[in-house]
Amino acid sequence: MKIIRTIAEMNQLSKQENASLGLVPTMGYLHEGHLSLVREARGANTAVVVSIFVNPIQFSPDEDFDAYPRDLNRDLKILAEERTDIVFVPSAEEMFPREYASWVEVTSLINRLEEAFRPGHFRGVTTVVAKLFNIIRPAKAYFGQKDIQQASIIKKMVADLNMNIEIMIIPTVREDDGLAMSSRNSYLSPAERRAATVLFKALTLARKMKQGGEQDANNLRQQMSSLIQKEPLAHIDYVSIADADTLEELFLLDKNALAILAVRIGKTRLIDNMLLE
Ligand code: PAJ
Repeated sequence: MKIIRTIAEMNQLSKQENASLGLVPTMGYLHEGHLSLVREARGANTAVVVSIFVNPIQFSPDEDFDAYPRDLNRDLKILAEERTDIVFVPSAEEMFPREYASWVEVTSLINRLEEAFRPGHFRGVTTVVAKLFNIIRPAKAYFGQKDIQQASIIKKMVADLNMNIEIMIIPTVREDDGLAMSSRNSYLSPAERRAATVLFKALTLARKMKQGGEQDANNLRQQMSSLIQKEPLAHIDYVSIADADTLEELFLLDKNALAILAVRIGKTRLIDNMLLE
């Protein structure tokens, strides 16, 4: 496994590799969710690159950039066990030097859900992902369904800017009790960890209601919200029933729908979603 720390070295290597590269962009502190992306990439590319970079420009000043969990040695050990070919670990100084001044911004899909609570977050994501795409030049790049708005925005960026990269979206990996794996789960106290199962319970309730023939999206939102409100440690940022393609809010369940939510458990903000089949 090659560990690459500079952009020049990574550029050099991606030029040499006439192989097709599969890229898994991450912020590290890896868990089984990240690893399912790595495994998917390994089966479909001649070499896999995992990038690890806690991207400062996607955190607002009041968010958890400094506190974000980091353990590079553990991540490298796990990636070696997964037979990853290349790990790219750039420095913040090289990615975003003082004089840095360019942004990539997708203007659809962003005025709601996450963006409403984290203004500027997605332009930080699209900017860093565009940079990683230019540095690494992958044939395919892998993103998780858990961050569905992020994955949709990246797909839109790639289509609009004619980036010749195939975006693969991989199902959410969950703990046994349904909680979606996330690096942020490490912030939860034992009581909060128990309370956090309310996200999956609310999503499952929406799916059951849809399967039972419910047609009114408002009823789903209401039932999900009242279930979550029964959990004293949980505070809702949003509960959405959205068109699975456009992420626009739905009122009638007459097309593919996603239940999407963001809930704060204590100080920890968790997001999750589920396709309503
Ligand atoms: P990070 O939160 O580290 O996630 C990296 C990738 O893993 C994302 O595509 C995310 O959707 C996926 N992922 C996270 N939890 C998952 C789970 N339980 N099951 C399946 N996939 C999961 O998302 C980011 O980093 C950053 O915004 C990044 C894209 C790297 C840009 O900085």
